[in-house]
Amino acid sequence: MQKLSIRGGTPLSGEVRVAGAKNAALPILAAALLTAAPVRVRNLPRLNDVRTMVRLLERMGVKAEAGAHEVALDARMVAEPFAPYDLVKTMRASILALGPLVARFGEARVSLPGGCAIGERPVDLHIKGLTAMGADISIESGYIHATARRLKGARIFMDTVTVTGTENLMMAACLARGTTVLENAAREPEVADLARCLIAMGARIAGHGSDVITVEGVDALFGVDHVVMPDRIEAGTFLAAAAATRGTVVLTDAPVGALDAVIEKLRAAGAEVDVGSDTVRLAMKGRPRAVGLRTAPHPGFPTDMQAQFIAMNAVAEGTALVTETIFENRFMHVQELRRLGAHIDIEGNTAVVHGVPALAGANVMATDLRASASLVIAGLVAEGETVIDRIYHLDRGYERIEERLGQLGARIERVS
Ligand code: EPU
Repeated sequence: MQKLSIRGGTPLSGEVRVAGAKNAALPILAAALLTAAPVRVRNLPRLNDVRTMVRLLERMGVKAEAGAHEVALDARMVAEPFAPYDLVKTMRASILALGPLVARFGEARVSLPGGCAIGERPVDLHIKGLTAMGADISIESGYIHATARRLKGARIFMDTVTVTGTENLMMAACLARGTTVLENAAREPEVADLARCLIAMGARIAGHGSDVITVEGVDALFGVDHVVMPDRIEAGTFLAAAAATRGTVVLTDAPVGALDAVIEKLRAAGAEVDVGSDTVRLAMKGRPRAVGLRTAPHPGFPTDMQAQFIAMNAVAEGTALVTETIFENRFMHVQELRRLGAHIDIEGNTAVVHGVPALAGANVMATDLRASASLVIAGLVAEGETVIDRIYHLDRGYERIEERLGQLGARIERVS
């Protein structure tokens, strides 16, 4: 199994380009199921999750021609509207096939994703929404089986903000008869990127980026050539790594409008942050100051950046309270960070991070994608060698992480 070896203690320095956003790419790839016309998706990050989504589409009969950072998809013929367990269990985002399949083909069989390392993660709101749009849904042997003659528009209130739930229902509503109103919709930039792609395909969507999205159904969608937005979580991870190592980095192709909550906290930690039209420069001159935060749906502080900020706070001056409100079990990194010498207590859904002056390298284990990112940051700070095991989690969401951090002067290598 591959590992990362990091020799820490060097401030990050240099320039790195932000890759395309995984969490925008995945729903946009699923959206290809909504049309018989060709769909080209560009600025795709080269990640295992992206490959899994393309494989899932191919299993259904979609033709895919992949380039380095793009794919051409043709979903004219879909042999089987089916997402099998063996793929869904490796990637929960496979649930994004459900809405498009039932909307275009009147039928879908998608494996239930089940829980995962960061929490229970039910999909009840996806199912409730599609039921409100007229789908007949049953759960059989671990599969969601949905059928519908043609979906019809509905007013749907989601009592919890759900990103993929909003995306699934927004995609389904594009081909429904009549108007769908999604209330308490997710405002995440990735939802808005999907909406822009769907609109270019001929969908009639308004309100994306706000918490009420209105979709007027159409009979068919066209093809599209879409460039995926840059990844705000990858960008935030590089910035947090630079701040923790007291470095200076410039991000190019950065999604500057989507980073407000993260940049505000980095400034509170003492970083100088200059934002250009698509660049962000961060310089951290001394030891970071502890910054408290509470995760929340966008535009609040993203749960996908919580672990990385715990790593930065682990070496900050002072004590920070970090509260996780989205997922119930998203502190798996804490026990691994302790192995590096971090002083962190967990009280319910709050991590009390007492900053220490230095960390020391150790062997640690990645448990989920963002937890892995926090271990990388801590390893970059720690004196001596840190070896991170199970980095397949990291490869799901960060493209060639060792090369790109290496470009910033990090001493990091992949070992088997
Ligand atoms: N929830 C429900 N019922 C539902 C759906 C969600 O109760 O039907 C709850 C969840 O249990 C959770 C909360 O709602 O407590 C929010 O979950 P959400 O549905 O928004 O999460 P998701 O759509 O499954 C996406 C990202 C995650 C990111 C979350 C929150 C994708 C592919 N995944 O997941 O990304 O953490 O939104 O922002 O977009 C990651 O990239 O590392 C990652 C985990």
